[in-house]
Amino acid sequence: MSDNILEVRDIHTFIGQFHILEGVSVSVPSGAITVLLGRNGAGKTTTLRSIMGLNQVTQGDISYMNGSLVGKNAHKIAQLGIGYVPEHRAIFKELSVRENLQIAARKKGDLENNLDFVFELFPDLKRLIELPGGNLSGGQQQMLAIARALVPDNGLLLIDEPSEGLAPIIIQQLIAAIRTLAANKTVLLVEQNFRVASLLADYFVIIDDGHSVASGSMADLHKEHELVQRYLGVA
Ligand SMILES: Nc1ncnc2c1ncn2[C@@H]1O[C@H](COP(=O)(O)OP(=O)(O)OP(=O)(O)O)[C@@H](O)[C@H]1O
Ligand SMILES: [Mg+2]
Repeated sequence: MSDNILEVRDIHTFIGQFHILEGVSVSVPSGAITVLLGRNGAGKTTTLRSIMGLNQVTQGDISYMNGSLVGKNAHKIAQLGIGYVPEHRAIFKELSVRENLQIAARKKGDLENNLDFVFELFPDLKRLIELPGGNLSGGQQQMLAIARALVPDNGLLLIDEPSEGLAPIIIQQLIAAIRTLAANKTVLLVEQNFRVASLLADYFVIIDDGHSVASGSMADLHKEHELVQRYLGVA
């Protein structure tokens, strides 16, 4: 048995007729934060969607707690304890914060059991609980999107670009919250902001043009100037 809660092995994914992932492997160690890095269009979101069963994997394997996810539908995969926070914060804008949280529950007691933790992590949400999601600021909507994934007892969270479009001060709050929640959950993150990724992640995987091309510990990546420059375009 490995210490990796999730193991993506050489997956291939098509979207329609397009061969988008052509060999992506990602090891996600339990209890740590792993970040997927790579340019726009590299295949980071498609990797998360493939894990969630939202894009169909035609080759390779995805094993989660030593069982295969390939061929399971998204509903079934979520029930196994994987929470997905998509790009662009898919919250229900017409529903209140409370209703957004309520419908994220998978079983009776989920919300009651986890609401204190959600409020501890995101105190703003407590104050805004009766407001429509659409009235929240971008940062508050991102907090709500993450909070929704904390309502069921998920062991693994997949979070796509949490810092996108947010002000630095809000990003600081999010970083603190993600670090706190990662104390008892495993996180697989997509993050384009290299500085944010550096502050958060323990491990990285670089995806380029549908392939995973490098992986290792985030602390080591800082010494790999050539790698960072070539695939991420950051000096
Ligand atoms: N619905 C779709 N139909 C056709 N091509 C798609 C579709 N969704 C994504 N793609 C293509 O798949 C490739 C990978 O997209 P993906 O969204 O996974 O990239 P990404 O690394 O998340 O990029 P970004 O940083 O811009 O979010 C891109 O070339 C994109 O144009
Ligand atoms: Mg993306």
